[in-house]
Amino acid sequence: MEGRNPLSEQRVLLIVGGGIAAYKALELTRLLRKAGIAVRPILTRAGAQFVTPLSLSALAEDKVYADLFSLTDEAEMGHIELSRSADLVVVAPATADLMAKAANGHADDLASTTLLATDKPVLMAPAMNVRMWEHAATRRNLAALKADGVGFVGPDEGAMACGEFGPGRMAEPAAIFQAILGALATGRPLAGKRALVTAGPTAEPIDPVRVITNRSSGKQGYAIAAALAGLGAEVTLVSGPTALAAPAGVRRVDVETAQQMLEACEAALPVDIAVCVAAVADWRPESVAAAKVKKDGASPKPIALVETPDILATLSKGKRRPKLVVGFAAETNDVEANAKAKLAKKGCDWIVANDVSVAGTMGGEDNAVAIVSAKGVERWDRAPKAEVARRLADRIAKALK
Ligand code: CTP
Repeated sequence: MEGRNPLSEQRVLLIVGGGIAAYKALELTRLLRKAGIAVRPILTRAGAQFVTPLSLSALAEDKVYADLFSLTDEAEMGHIELSRSADLVVVAPATADLMAKAANGHADDLASTTLLATDKPVLMAPAMNVRMWEHAATRRNLAALKADGVGFVGPDEGAMACGEFGPGRMAEPAAIFQAILGALATGRPLAGKRALVTAGPTAEPIDPVRVITNRSSGKQGYAIAAALAGLGAEVTLVSGPTALAAPAGVRRVDVETAQQMLEACEAALPVDIAVCVAAVADWRPESVAAAKVKKDGASPKPIALVETPDILATLSKGKRRPKLVVGFAAETNDVEANAKAKLAKKGCDWIVANDVSVAGTMGGEDNAVAIVSAKGVERWDRAPKAEVARRLADRIAKALK
């Protein structure tokens, strides 16, 4: 995992509109591929009047998507999935028509539908005749798109293919390429950072068939691992037994016991960030029976328990302490007071306190948390676990800036 080129994991969905500048989209595609960035092209019908699908496909080293109603395309990758399959959507050239459609939420072909369906940042490189660019309608559309968060590069001023002079010429491929690198980096504030996340329960064996465990589903920890990876971090997820699939781009290490979890965490060091979400069993049977314990008529024997290692405290107080250590506190009462005490006891930077007495939190989809740090307590509204994870990952990225 180390030493990899972070650009090689970046994906751009490139919408090529219909304008004479479409030929520059070929050079842009070449620059992106040379930098290791994957390019998936969408060619509009008008765009195909200027460049051929074959040229675009050859340079992108991917197939060209063109038709919203193509059964073969839809079977391979539906348009909604297509719209989310990239880290960034780039429209180059962005014609007056494509800008108008995007500004008004039209969805009558693959390009406009993709722009309406995407949840990814969008960067447009406008290209049109100077009068079209300066028309009040285009001004309105530009303002609306900017208000929607769309980024723009260009247009440049200069001689145009139509013989006129002024702003409207598409930015040069090198400039669009730089803008793409900037947009990709903004979306990845944790690129180059390493993160460790513990998640799920642990299972402490009593005998070969029985364990002591708890009701943790791992959902919150997995969502945090996914959110950190989404911001560009290189994430190791040390997970106890759960029914969940590893989030994309996350390295998962499966463990069962607290001791194994600690060892896997230590093996993942050094890291910049550690988030301990796992519901680690606090005790384990002192000894594990070699064979299944039988109900042999005798009264049940008490199981002697010993404490498991505290992973959060060990990481917080260790020689290779991550820059930022975040713990969770599952409490049923006096949530914030207990969290404050835990912050001091464990030596971590933040405690994310959640009230598990609220029905449906443990194993459920939502979480209401408070972030407790030396600076005080900040309460967050109840939200889906994935949303809590995204907010926490954003907060972590800000803290590491
Ligand atoms: N934790 C850990 N290793 C343990 C126990 C807990 O890393 N052996 C971590 C959890 O992942 C969590 C935090 O410590 O981030 C707090 O866990 P919690 O169970 O609430 O705290 P405990 O230390 O077990 O305290 P208590 O059960 O007494 O409230």
